[in-house]
Amino acid sequence: MAALARSILVTGSSRGIGLELVTQLAASPRPPQHIFATCRDLEGPRGKALRELAAQHPSIKLVQLDVVNLASIRGAVRAVGSHLKDQGLNLLVNNAGVSLHTTLRSLDSQEMLSAFAINVVGPLLVAKEFLPLLEKAAKGAGKRGLSCSRAAVINVSTKLGSIGLCLGVPEAPMYPYRASKAAQNMVTRCLAAELRDQGILCAAIHPGWVKTDMGTEKAPLMAEHSVRGILTVLAGLSQDTSGAFLDWEGNSLPW
Ligand SMILES: NC(=O)c1ccc[n+]([C@@H]2O[C@H](COP(=O)([O-])OP(=O)(O)OC[C@H]3O[C@@H](n4cnc5c(N)ncnc54)[C@H](OP(=O)(O)O)[C@@H]3O)[C@@H](O)[C@H]2O)c1
Repeated sequence: MAALARSILVTGSSRGIGLELVTQLAASPRPPQHIFATCRDLEGPRGKALRELAAQHPSIKLVQLDVVNLASIRGAVRAVGSHLKDQGLNLLVNNAGVSLHTTLRSLDSQEMLSAFAINVVGPLLVAKEFLPLLEKAAKGAGKRGLSCSRAAVINVSTKLGSIGLCLGVPEAPMYPYRASKAAQNMVTRCLAAELRDQGILCAAIHPGWVKTDMGTEKAPLMAEHSVRGILTVLAGLSQDTSGAFLDWEGNSLPW
C-alpha cells in the first residue's frame, strides 16, 4: 500500500491518540518521509515517550508546538518548512485537545474559554499558519482531486460535539468540551468549503471512545484499534468526503 502522505504533522503527539498515530505511521511498511510529531513539552517529562519513539525512527521529526501560543505555532511552521525545503506539507492532523468534565452547576467562564482556546481557536490558527505549506503541497502534488496524500486538514472531533445526536447530556454534561467541539466542527465545515478550490481536503473524525488519559480506563476501545481505523479512513478520503464528519470506522455522523 502507498504511504498515506509524503509529509504528515500531528499535534498533541506526546500521549494518547496522537502518540499512537505517530507510532503506527512510523511503523507502517511505507512510512511517510516526514512525520512531524509535535508536542508542547518536548524537552520535559511529558515528551519522554515521544523522544524515545523518535530515537527509533528517522522519519519522525520532533517539533515544539503549543496550540494556544502563536509564537510556538509560527516557530513550528518555520521548523517544518526548513525540513521540507521546496516541498509543502501534505497532511495536518489537529489532534491536540482537552476535555473538562464540568457540569452546568460547576462550570465557570474560565473553563469555557480555556476549552475554546485549545479545541477551537488552536486548531484554526494552526491551520491558518500552516496554510502556505498546505497550498504548496496542493499545487506541487501533480494530481487533481482531493486526498490526504495531496493536501488535507483533519480535525479530531468527537461524537459528543454532534448537535444532531446530542448524546446523553446528563451522563456527559461536559459543557466546555461539547460546545467547543461543536464549534470546531463548524470550523471544519468552513475550512472544507473555503479550501476545496485550492485542492485542500478538510474533514472531522471521531476516534471512538478510546482508552487514553482523556477517555479513561472505562473506554471500550484501545488506541491501537482506533488509530488503525482512523488511518484506513484517512487513506480513503476524497473529493466526495471532504467536509464530512466520520467515525474511525468510516461511518458518517450528523453534525
Ligand atoms: N479518548 C477519547 O475517548 C476521545 C473521544 C473522542 C475524541 N477524542 C479526541 O481525540 C483527541 C486526542 O485525545 P486523547 O484521548 O489522545 O487525549 P489525551 O490522552 O488527553 O492527550 C491529549 C493530547 O493533547 C495535547 N494538548 C493538550 N493541550 C495542548 C496544547 N495547548 N497544545 C498542544 N498540545 C496540547 C496533550 O499534550 P500534553 O501531554 O502536553 O498535555 C496530549 O498530547 C482530542 O482532540 C480529543 O478531543 C478523544
